[in-house]
Amino acid sequence: MLTQVVRKIFLTRSGNETACKQHNVASLNIPIRHFDFKFDKDELDSKFYFQTVLGSAYWQALSIFLTYGEDLVIETARFHRDLVIDPVLKQRVTSLIGQEAIHSKIHEEWNEILKDNRFPVTLYRFLADKVFDHIFLRFPQPMKLSLMAAIEHFTAVIAQHMMVNTDSSIMAMMDNPLTRTEDNKTMALWMWHMLEESEHKDIAYDIYQVLSGNYWLRVSGFVLALVTILGLVSLGGIMLPYLHSPRYLISRRYYNDVKDSLKLLVGRKYGVFGSNWHHVFDYLRRDFHPNDHDTTEYLEFYKKYLLDPEKGLLTPYFIKEFVPPLRTATA
Ligand SMILES: [Fe+2]
Ligand SMILES: [Fe+2]
Repeated sequence: MLTQVVRKIFLTRSGNETACKQHNVASLNIPIRHFDFKFDKDELDSKFYFQTVLGSAYWQALSIFLTYGEDLVIETARFHRDLVIDPVLKQRVTSLIGQEAIHSKIHEEWNEILKDNRFPVTLYRFLADKVFDHIFLRFPQPMKLSLMAAIEHFTAVIAQHMMVNTDSSIMAMMDNPLTRTEDNKTMALWMWHMLEESEHKDIAYDIYQVLSGNYWLRVSGFVLALVTILGLVSLGGIMLPYLHSPRYLISRRYYNDVKDSLKLLVGRKYGVFGSNWHHVFDYLRRDFHPNDHDTTEYLEFYKKYLLDPEKGLLTPYFIKEFVPPLRTATA
């Protein structure tokens, strides 16, 4: 059902691909949404992503590392918000900061239940602390600004994949009884996060263009984000199953899981990264803008679908939302 609707939007969109380089009307007022997922360690499905061990491990490693990336985004956006003159962009930066702050907080809650389920969260936090405290957070502000824009590009690529792809997306797997998980809270967490990553995907890039716009600095931030998200996080994902359960080292069944997981993550046909190289590297185009990849209709569809008052997957956990007003955007 869901996959049919998504396919329909895709067919409509692919016949109407127009570049949209200005503030997207649908995402002008971006709300900061509050949720309480009340995670419980006994409800965690450690194979929540298509019932794969390695596939799920990538998202588990990402969840641990991304809170550090989000804290960098928050700090960098706060610093640069004061330099932005346009009140609308200022307001949007406040929305970005608010959304990322809540992502970071709630992912930490989820990471805690990973820890309670014997995942190596403490070790990964220790390593991430070293990388961020000793390297990334010491960069000069222009470099952090570039890195922030690039991190947001990668999360936008993943988010678009999750909304559009009908074979390997978290959004679509709920349609299939074979891949569906009973861990609704974990699903809701990732769906909500991806929705908002797509919702605010152009803000960091717009700040970068307004305050710098230097092409080669942008490329440098992209390379750093690429190495971190596809290199370090992937390494974290590969090691995670072994650190969690050393028996995977000698399990033949696990190596079948590896094949399936790699198809989902890096397979050329529908892998999260493998089928999106063109989108990832499109960032290197000199006149690139995040809104060249228009996701407006998907966003509208998923907002209604996930937050439906009667049966939306996010509805049981939703507390409140507000849009930062223009006049207090500098607060
Ligand atoms: Fe986020
Ligand atoms: Fe983001």
